[in-house]
Amino acid sequence: MGQLFTVVVHDRQKGRTVTALVPEGKYILHALEEQGNGLPFSCRNGCCTTCAVRIKAGSLDHREALGLSQALREQGYGLLCVARAVADVEVETQDEDEVYELQFGRHFGRGRVRPAIPLEEE
Ligand code: FES
Repeated sequence: MGQLFTVVVHDRQKGRTVTALVPEGKYILHALEEQGNGLPFSCRNGCCTTCAVRIKAGSLDHREALGLSQALREQGYGLLCVARAVADVEVETQDEDEVYELQFGRHFGRGRVRPAIPLEEE
């Protein structure tokens, strides 16, 4: 049997803290669900960012987190549905849509239609 890691999740929306032992290499979201500690999710594929968390201590294996940019990984975000336990880790749930907005809000902003010719009145 593989190693067990301690995963602590501060579920900010519910004001509770979940502590679980998660086997090495197992998806953290799945392991927590099996232990009766469901957390927000939607796609379960590492794409939608519903399950995003901020990593407070430790680290995750999130090579499968396709929906999370490298920049946000470096800022300490993770996606629990495709994150595997590789060490003890402590995370907290994001604000609603926090990661989605960080990641896509800016692109949409940049994509705003701009007039090719500057408006006279400005
Ligand atoms: S549930 Fe969609 S990224 Fe995790």
